[in-house]
Amino acid sequence: MCGIVGYVGEKRAAPLLLDGLRRLEYRGYDSAGVATLDGDHVQIVRRVGFVQNLAAAIPADMPGHTGIGHTRWATHGGVTEQNAHPHADSTNRIALAHNGIIENHALLRARLEDEGIVFRSETDTEVLAHLVSKFYAGDPVDAVRKALLLVQGTYGIAVIFAAHPGVIVAARNGSPLVVGKGDGETFLASDPHALAAYTRQVVYLEDRDIARIDQQGWTLSRLDGSDVSRVVEVLGEEWADDGRGDYSHHMLKEIREQPESLARCLRGRVVPESGGARLGGLDMDPRDIASIQRVGVLGCGTSFHAGLVGAAAMESLARIPAFAEIASEFRYRNPVIGRDDMFFAVSQSGETADTLGAVREVQVKGGRIFGVVNVVGSSIARACGKGVYVHSGPEIAVASTKAFTSQVAALLVAALSFARTRTLGPHEGKSFGDELLAVPSAVGEWLQSEPQSVMDAVELVTKGRFVFFLGRGVSHAVALEGALKLKEIAYLPCMAYPAAEMKHGPIALIDRNTPVVVIVPDDVMRDKTLSTIAEVKARGARVIVVHSAGDMHAARVADISIPVPRASTLLSPLLTVLPLQLLAYRSGLALGRDIDRPRNLAKSVTVE
Ligand code: F6R
Repeated sequence: MCGIVGYVGEKRAAPLLLDGLRRLEYRGYDSAGVATLDGDHVQIVRRVGFVQNLAAAIPADMPGHTGIGHTRWATHGGVTEQNAHPHADSTNRIALAHNGIIENHALLRARLEDEGIVFRSETDTEVLAHLVSKFYAGDPVDAVRKALLLVQGTYGIAVIFAAHPGVIVAARNGSPLVVGKGDGETFLASDPHALAAYTRQVVYLEDRDIARIDQQGWTLSRLDGSDVSRVVEVLGEEWADDGRGDYSHHMLKEIREQPESLARCLRGRVVPESGGARLGGLDMDPRDIASIQRVGVLGCGTSFHAGLVGAAAMESLARIPAFAEIASEFRYRNPVIGRDDMFFAVSQSGETADTLGAVREVQVKGGRIFGVVNVVGSSIARACGKGVYVHSGPEIAVASTKAFTSQVAALLVAALSFARTRTLGPHEGKSFGDELLAVPSAVGEWLQSEPQSVMDAVELVTKGRFVFFLGRGVSHAVALEGALKLKEIAYLPCMAYPAAEMKHGPIALIDRNTPVVVIVPDDVMRDKTLSTIAEVKARGARVIVVHSAGDMHAARVADISIPVPRASTLLSPLLTVLPLQLLAYRSGLALGRDIDRPRNLAKSVTVE
């Protein structure tokens, strides 16, 4: 969704702002704009549509060494140039870009209109530009502070003032901002992707922080006027790489990166010597672990699906009662939260509003919640305070792929660590840990020799009327994930079901035009799932079977057989999901879809 960038330094700001905006494109947006300082006024260029439209409209010699840029995903007011950010005050001496929602904007707008201000857009943001202008009396930070004290809602803002060349004022409340220190230049962004190519030394603003940013760095204060300092953090190397390389799409690159992203997630965490696992970020001693009564795993979309596998592992490996729940449902059902319960919030972006809301709900009720997050320093990671970074590296394609496998791996490591404390002996622990450590290379080998049958499956599903995905236990989570990917990327109608539920209703939909994808690793549920295959085949369905390599019976009953390396049940999702990711990618490609930026979707869903 919306993104902010800012630059102060010796170089011309506009090209750097455009580059930053291009790096934020993956988040989804519908208009973009930049503002730079030009003598005694601000110069603003905005366009509807992609950043390339904006780039074409920006004069090659656009002046200014200080500037801000924005990608907007419309909330208040339609997708028009007037509504695009940045917005100026009435004197054109202040420009402001904003992420978030100003809840009391109507009241503030009415008051400003009574004072004679003429609004030029329908946005909630424009009130901020006029308020800052109203309170400006020579000190830019003071003006921003006074304006924000009147505001209810969420914001990440960047403001420039013609009277203060070389200064950006930034402030956050509920919408992330990160400042990066370069050599004689300073960067601002709502997402570390946008600045990782320029600097890895960053400071994350906390809610109610205000930053005065100049060429030399930043000075921080709080909304209440007190001073504060924050620790400078160093972005991991993986964040600098957000290019496509030789790949035609980020999604394919990210699918193929899974051997490395999984290895990064596991590195140093599985401890073969003790048969256990170490997750320093959880900061729990064995007594804490022994006292856990229940585990809840919360997330949305793909992260929820990873949570389903995590909850299954907590229960079957660590023998702790566990459940996974969609964060947006959990947060509003007034859940019972016990003092010995433990929650995980799973999120790639760390910015999903529904998941952040669930985190707050757990905390309000006195519960413990830990993040399982990819983006370092993101809102969910900060709100949880403790947790596990999954280290997938930047995931640019809207469809989540490598983050899913890393989330699953991180949750399996947590389950192993808890299990080793509570139920598992050293030998069983070691054999689980060894198998987990072998997964990245099995994933790599399979991806390198992707079976031709994936393309046969593409042919079948793209011609189908409706596609079913079936599985049981953790394979049901994989079925859900496969169906989500196919909807998002290929826009094909499909549905995932626990295999045994078919006979309770959905089987009525089956005919020869409904391809069925069945995930059937060679585990205790295999024979039952094979019976479901027989039932749908008897009704005319053509069946694509993802099964363990060497399972000849599963291969024989399949119309299209896709073998994956053998793995024990809890680890099988890390392998069975691979063909489903590729099925979605290749189906989307065959149907001419916009793979990395599917319609109507944003990478980071920061609104409810
Ligand atoms: C699916 C997808 C979404 C996200 C969901 C949660 O490919 O990308 O379903 O998984 O919006 O996002 P995060 O993980 O960032 O909280």
